[in-house]
Amino acid sequence: MTPSSEIPPFPVISWPEADGPQSARWRSEAGVPPPKRVVIADDRTTADSAYRLACEGTALLWRGDFQNARQLLQAMSRRLERKPPKRATSPLDAFNLHRQAQSQRARTLGMLLIPLDADYTIPLRRAPNVQDACAETYGPAGADTSVVSLREVLGLIGAHEWRKKGVEIPALGERIHPYYGVFSPVRGEYIDLVARTPLPSQGLAFDVGTGTGVLAAVLAKRGVQKVVATDQDPRALACAQENLARLGYADSVEILDADLFPPGRAPLVVCNPPWLPARPASPIEYAIYDHESRMLLGFLNGLADHLEPGGEGWLILSDFAEHLGLRTRDDLLAAIDRAGLIVAGREDIRPRHPKAADASDPLHAARAAEVTSLWRLKAR
Ligand SMILES: C[S@@+](CC[C@H](N)C(=O)[O-])C[C@H]1O[C@@H](n2cnc3c(N)ncnc32)[C@H](O)[C@@H]1O
Repeated sequence: MTPSSEIPPFPVISWPEADGPQSARWRSEAGVPPPKRVVIADDRTTADSAYRLACEGTALLWRGDFQNARQLLQAMSRRLERKPPKRATSPLDAFNLHRQAQSQRARTLGMLLIPLDADYTIPLRRAPNVQDACAETYGPAGADTSVVSLREVLGLIGAHEWRKKGVEIPALGERIHPYYGVFSPVRGEYIDLVARTPLPSQGLAFDVGTGTGVLAAVLAKRGVQKVVATDQDPRALACAQENLARLGYADSVEILDADLFPPGRAPLVVCNPPWLPARPASPIEYAIYDHESRMLLGFLNGLADHLEPGGEGWLILSDFAEHLGLRTRDDLLAAIDRAGLIVAGREDIRPRHPKAADASDPLHAARAAEVTSLWRLKAR
């Protein structure tokens, strides 16, 4: 509990309890504000009433058995799925409806809350040990009890497992271990493009927006003597550092906290910006959505000033946004031209991920037509 006379340096959630009003630190990695209406729920709460309350914007703070809460969340999720989907009139409409449905789902399912003790134990019957998963994302345990959505905690558990297990990267013959919120290289095809396109030089390369560090590692494995990799997200920087050290590239790859480019010029500058020009709905969506194409245009517009004479910029971009009507091919070509660049070549690859073949996916038509390209750009 937090004394009301002090203003804590974090958001606080308050709720009524039989023995008086209570409050605790509110945690939300998605940046969701603390719910205003909170009721206590337990093993007697039915899925119908939980779902109704959640749809109305009332959060349920769980006091029952952890595994029952998990089942309740699944039951709420099934009720959401029963709603007939709205019919889309165009691919862009389908994308907007899909995002709306995702955000409604996140809002509704995010209403089932659980308590976390200050040491990150969950004070509920049959609760798993989430201490490591919480410490990895929230930082070392402190002095405050907190409240968090069950959905977020399940996400932390999943992320912790991925981080431990890693993602197999055939081009490296090794695994990359993504951190929570860092772009995970699960779609290997874009990595294959970087692994097979002839290198303009083996001297130096920049990797702009390195995420897990996967492309920097591929370049180092291909014999590039020095790679400077940047990112702005502290989790990505820590994640890349750890991956590259584990793979034995700590000496050849330098990780830098920078907005886009490191200082200087290189014969090769690689960038895989988020592929969709749309507004991220939460901080963890910044690696998927590029608001107003800031990273794409920033990369194109700064590239000529960071290339050595004759050097190449490798832009990795899928045409998914084009199939959704979020960008046209002409927009991209015009932006390349305006930046004083020419296209020296392009390598294409088709996605192999299972979603591309899932006809029930509302974005299936766009996904089935998607091609990922490595654009070889040069200064004019
Ligand atoms: C789509 S992810 C690609 C990550 C990695 N290069 C890969 O291919 O798996 C884009 C990355 O760019 C980073 N990023 C976004 N804006 C940036 C900026 N202005 N400067 C540096 N990095 C940025 C994000 O944090 C994210 O890690």
